[in-house]
Amino acid sequence: MTTLTQNEMKKAAAEKAIEFIQPDTIVGVGTGSTVNYFIDALATIKNQIIGAVSSSEQSSQRLKEHGIEVFDLNSVDNLDVYIDGADEITKHMAMIKGGGAALTREKIVAAVAKKFICIADNSKQVDILGRFPLPVEVIPMARSYVARELVKLGGDPEYRQGVVTDNGNVILDVHNLNILDPKALETQINNIVGVVTNGLFALRGADILVLSTNQGTKIIK
Ligand code: 5RP
Repeated sequence: MTTLTQNEMKKAAAEKAIEFIQPDTIVGVGTGSTVNYFIDALATIKNQIIGAVSSSEQSSQRLKEHGIEVFDLNSVDNLDVYIDGADEITKHMAMIKGGGAALTREKIVAAVAKKFICIADNSKQVDILGRFPLPVEVIPMARSYVARELVKLGGDPEYRQGVVTDNGNVILDVHNLNILDPKALETQINNIVGVVTNGLFALRGADILVLSTNQGTKIIK
């Protein structure tokens, strides 16, 4: 049996996801190293699609470098699919995302898409979310207030130094949260004044998981 590296698994999941792209559509594209492999694969069928809507400046730049047209989400009525990675995903398809600080735009594009297709290597599968610190995007002037409120919820927020999101905000990474009810916590954190959004994708989780393992790439629905 061949042993794949984590990057080889990311690439395998990304390439498999091309099967979900319909001709003459606009594709929702996420952010991260797994998605970078997806963008490279998408470039091989670029003449069959209209273009993409992107969840970050980073992905937009890579799409454009490959000659794929990037549309403003406001000019697009609907998206068939949104393809993105995750930092953690459960068997209920709830995720933690935002390791790459793109969580807000990711959540917006995912909200528009009919199907969220998560592409991941098997290191991302977990029973309970929370070992990966939960990213929270915060309006800069609210940083300390939001951090105090997150401590009240039992978390240990850490300011992600030197990171400014594409929306001009900051990120708090919340350690040591025991996330037994992801939907409830997603709502609770989003209700803190000054929070733009948090990296729990449970209210709108993935519809399909393309999971790469050493035994091959599986489609989980
Ligand atoms: C970026 C994200 C990414 O999807 C997540 O961090 C996974 O990244 P990678 O594919 O590099 O492991 O949410 O904000």
